[in-house]
Amino acid sequence: MNTPYYLIDEKKLLRNLKLIRRVRAVSGAKSVLALKCFSTWSVFGLMKPYMDGTTSSGVYEARLGREQFGKEVHAYSVGFSRQDVRVVRRYADKVIFNSLSQLEAFAREVRGLQVGVRVNPGFSHSHFDLADPARRYSRLGVRDAKALRQAAGLISGVMFHFNCENDDFRNLAQNLDRIGREYGDLLERLEWVSLGGGLHFTKLDYPLGAFCAKLKDFSARFGVQVYLEPGEAAITGSAELVTTVLDVVHNEVDIAIVDASTEAHMLDHLIYRTSAKIAAPGLGRFKVVIAGRSCLAGDVFGHHSLKIRLKPGSLVRIADAAGYTMVKKNWFNGLPMPSICVRRLDGTLEPVKRFSYKDYVASLS
Ligand SMILES: Cc1ncc(COP(=O)(O)O)c(C=O)c1O
Repeated sequence: MNTPYYLIDEKKLLRNLKLIRRVRAVSGAKSVLALKCFSTWSVFGLMKPYMDGTTSSGVYEARLGREQFGKEVHAYSVGFSRQDVRVVRRYADKVIFNSLSQLEAFAREVRGLQVGVRVNPGFSHSHFDLADPARRYSRLGVRDAKALRQAAGLISGVMFHFNCENDDFRNLAQNLDRIGREYGDLLERLEWVSLGGGLHFTKLDYPLGAFCAKLKDFSARFGVQVYLEPGEAAITGSAELVTTVLDVVHNEVDIAIVDASTEAHMLDHLIYRTSAKIAAPGLGRFKVVIAGRSCLAGDVFGHHSLKIRLKPGSLVRIADAAGYTMVKKNWFNGLPMPSICVRRLDGTLEPVKRFSYKDYVASLS
């Protein structure tokens, strides 16, 4: 297999999936995969039995969820057009509007489906302002609690997405109590509540028992079906971006240029100014900057100390390459798009997607 390629390892994925199934069995909370994070449908066959369906952020994701995953389809969008709603209602079991104005405009269009709205509770847990759903002037969800209650007759559920990379269970527990205090009367009139994504409950050492007990209690207290919308938690640690060093240049430090790019293939490291973790080579004493091959000066995966000195031809495996990578990849600089390869449970390597110049041309006109 020529580099660069994303390599999804089904065994690693299965570890997360089993935890998700355990959460459903112990707490009763259903999990729908957030397709915005991960939409690589070649592994949906493995994921399907462990999850309850998908959630989407637009019409295409809702359709992908219906056609490639099946089970339950939640359709949410920050802004639906009337045409979108008419398309999305063909694929969705639940339609979740971002505002009361969208709910009122389209309630008749989605008659017969379960309908919800997103609520912005005014608090959140996020390490990044950019991804903070309750940031100042946030457009994400209904803020007006009184108007929300007045619209309760039109909805059967609500979605609170108020976490981003939250691995702090105590914080979550406190915020769930707060939701209970502030929205309990509304929840009692509804059938379901989605707590959104951003909960890192598949992380090693996460207190899964306490998490399940909390969700179960919340569900029983208000008589609602709880949903989770894991993106990152479903796929964390399950993929690598496999690259080859093309050149090593020196400017105060050694800089290894690999045949991939943060901007085109792992965009979130640029957006959030985070460093990539390197799965291989392992850690050691050779200091090197691993950088992408795009023209962007800041196309840098990170500063690392590795156990070998990288040279042209060395393989570099960039860790945690499943979430918000393949869904965001782009054709910047006309760089070859990494292929997608799956290591199946039985160990066989299956290339599931190769991109070519034709795909590049077809993405433009
Ligand atoms: C509404 C909603 N649900 C679920 C998710 C998935 O979040 P994560 O991948 O952090 O679990 C997001 C992420 O932005 C979201 O906005």
